[in-house]
Amino acid sequence: MRKSGTTVYLYELAWILPSIAIPVGMLAALTVTAFGAGMHLPSVAGRVSPTKVAQTAPFDQPGVVQVGPGRYEVRMTSQIWSYAPNEIRVPTGSTVTFIATSKDVVHGLFVPGANVNAMLLPGQITRVTARFDKAGEYPLLCHEYCGIAHHTMWARVIVEPRS
Ligand code: CUA
Repeated sequence: MRKSGTTVYLYELAWILPSIAIPVGMLAALTVTAFGAGMHLPSVAGRVSPTKVAQTAPFDQPGVVQVGPGRYEVRMTSQIWSYAPNEIRVPTGSTVTFIATSKDVVHGLFVPGANVNAMLLPGQITRVTARFDKAGEYPLLCHEYCGIAHHTMWARVIVEPRS
């Protein structure tokens, strides 16, 4: 049995159209998330000798520093199985930049509910910025498997209402 030319054409069209629509849709989603929602891959913000993290500024003094009105910097180290600092307090409406690295193995830096999702690699400085508009307590979790007590590695961000 011979199919008519029109049927073959329709079958072809049914395959061709999705093969164009799918990549176009993906490109659109990528553009919207990158430029609309401000989601970017965290870039390398510098390098640090992994064996000298504790002696290298700013990681020799881990903590939260106010760097401007409503702007904070968290200078953070990660090590098995903790973060320093392990509690970060900022007022609502703060823009917080995490400047972090690892002293030993690969760790994660993940704050659900905020735009923070990065890897902390030994020898590399990670810089990621997020805005905290809603008061509350946000967990800060290691989401890269880093050994036997990986699941106990966490800290918290406490966003306090402005008085
Ligand atoms: Cu650190 Cu998992």
